[in-house]
Amino acid sequence: EQQTNWDGSPMVKYQGFWYLKIFFRQELASYKHFKAKDSDVILSTLPKAGTTWLKALAFSIVNRGTIYRDIDQNPLLTCNPHKLVPFLVAFKENKPNQLDKPNDPRIFATHVPFKALAYSIRESACKIIYVCRNPLDLFVSARLFLTENKLEKDHAGLLGLDESFDMACEGTHPYGPFWDHMTGYWNAHLENPRKVLFLKYEDMKEDIVFNVKKIADFLGCPFSSEEEERGMVEEISKMCSFQSLKNVDKNGYSIKGLFKNSTFFRKGEVGDWSNYLTPAMAERMKKLMEIKFQGSPGLTFKI
Ligand code: A3P
Repeated sequence: EQQTNWDGSPMVKYQGFWYLKIFFRQELASYKHFKAKDSDVILSTLPKAGTTWLKALAFSIVNRGTIYRDIDQNPLLTCNPHKLVPFLVAFKENKPNQLDKPNDPRIFATHVPFKALAYSIRESACKIIYVCRNPLDLFVSARLFLTENKLEKDHAGLLGLDESFDMACEGTHPYGPFWDHMTGYWNAHLENPRKVLFLKYEDMKEDIVFNVKKIADFLGCPFSSEEEERGMVEEISKMCSFQSLKNVDKNGYSIKGLFKNSTFFRKGEVGDWSNYLTPAMAERMKKLMEIKFQGSPGLTFKI
């Protein structure tokens, strides 16, 4: 099955989920050939759920022993988090070791649904962190990512807000339907909470210090009392805050040259959807969520 996304990019449907055609073959290759190590950390999100933030946090938490020895040397001061944590889709079948780095743990990111993760990711002891974001902000963020931030030449063929909202509600968007993506990871988390950590963007915004500790505990590298006394948890939270990342994002990062650098740091707030969507649209989405998350009582959002 084929469709085009709001911006005209071709998408293909595979095992119930939509993929952008440009990445699909690579996603499949990574599914088939990527060999996870027990020490790997996999970050999973729907696009615009907080991937960049999670990359910065996981990178800082895992590497804090080296990067905080000399704070001025922290790579986050000069690099976009996407440069520090690669997407699994960058994995190439013919270069199996290309994503290897000398030190464990390796950290990778992905947008694929739980069931499309490489078998070795699901079956090994590696850890998975999922960040979930309320679908209204998710939609608005994705929509603006493709409109306001896209280079002018790529604006042709862009669908209107109403039509793209219809598509989101039908589940036709990259890595969607969003409800199946979320419930897939939610169920995996319920089944094995030590394997899959399920975070919510809204909770992270409310109390990032608590969530930084939660991530460290989950990854088996809790903060020592000495680290806590030194204020390291707060330091990491601040270093990875929206404002810091936006400010230090100097070097740039672009996906196939399509997106501007600032694209990954737009507003970083909860509830910005109300500036773009009508009450009727919000009502429609809320009703849809009630139905889709009926079987997942803990899957609720502060919106
Ligand atoms: P908005 O468009 O609502 O501002 P992703 O990283 O998955 O592409 O998600 C991008 C969204 O996360 C954008 O949301 C962006 O502003 C927000 N974001 C990026 N870095 C953030 C941070 N450090 N803290 C909070 N939100 C952040």
